[in-house]
Amino acid sequence: MKVLAINGSPRKDGNTNILLKTVLDEIEKNGIETEIFQLGGNRVSGCKACGACVKTMNRKCIISDDIINTCIEKMIEADGILIGSPIYFADITTETKALMDRAGYVVRANGHLLRRKLGAGVIAVRRAGAMHGFDSINHFFLIQQMIIPGSSYWNIGIGREKGDVNTDAEGLNTMKVLGENMAWLLKKLAVSGEVCP
Ligand SMILES: Cc1cc2nc3c(=O)[nH]c(=O)nc-3n(C[C@H](O)[C@H](O)[C@H](O)COP(=O)(O)O)c2cc1C
Repeated sequence: MKVLAINGSPRKDGNTNILLKTVLDEIEKNGIETEIFQLGGNRVSGCKACGACVKTMNRKCIISDDIINTCIEKMIEADGILIGSPIYFADITTETKALMDRAGYVVRANGHLLRRKLGAGVIAVRRAGAMHGFDSINHFFLIQQMIIPGSSYWNIGIGREKGDVNTDAEGLNTMKVLGENMAWLLKKLAVSGEVCP
């Protein structure tokens, strides 16, 4: 079993990363393998709407000169996926949106490859726009037929400068509970044979 956390922030060691790691720590405590994939800060293209993925059906986006295909492969392999993003002008980052558009088309073209995996969004925000960004990520998971575990609050951490989310006790606890719930559900699915133990 594996949980992949995708960091959509260009600040590799910023608030989104801290929040994602807090979730992953709980998951690891339950003996489940984890990985963080650094997406933000890389040059990525948006979907060209060329329809090539629907024709080739090779689990890849035709755009091959960026890291999106690597991320798609990792998403297909994972049993659970966290997508983390800071809020930029009341929404997710450009890199996060490019991933969701391109991965979204590729996995649907190849038979809904993310179906019944677990998915959770994680948001770092200074003040406003968190719910909009959180909803954007959840819309992606829902149309992929994924299962979204909840937490004690929506998965949001408050902070501006790097490390500020460490002072948001409620935000950190939300991440901890999310990790516990994700691990609990993954283990139930493993027992029932839905995911590899
Ligand atoms: C271009 C840009 C736009 C931002 N827009 C918002 C915003 O709309 N609302 C908000 O509360 N914070 C906004 N912020 C602040 C970030 O969401 C906040 O600093 C967050 O903690 C950054 O997370 P990170 O350290 O993972 O990058 C913005 C930051 C940048 C760089």
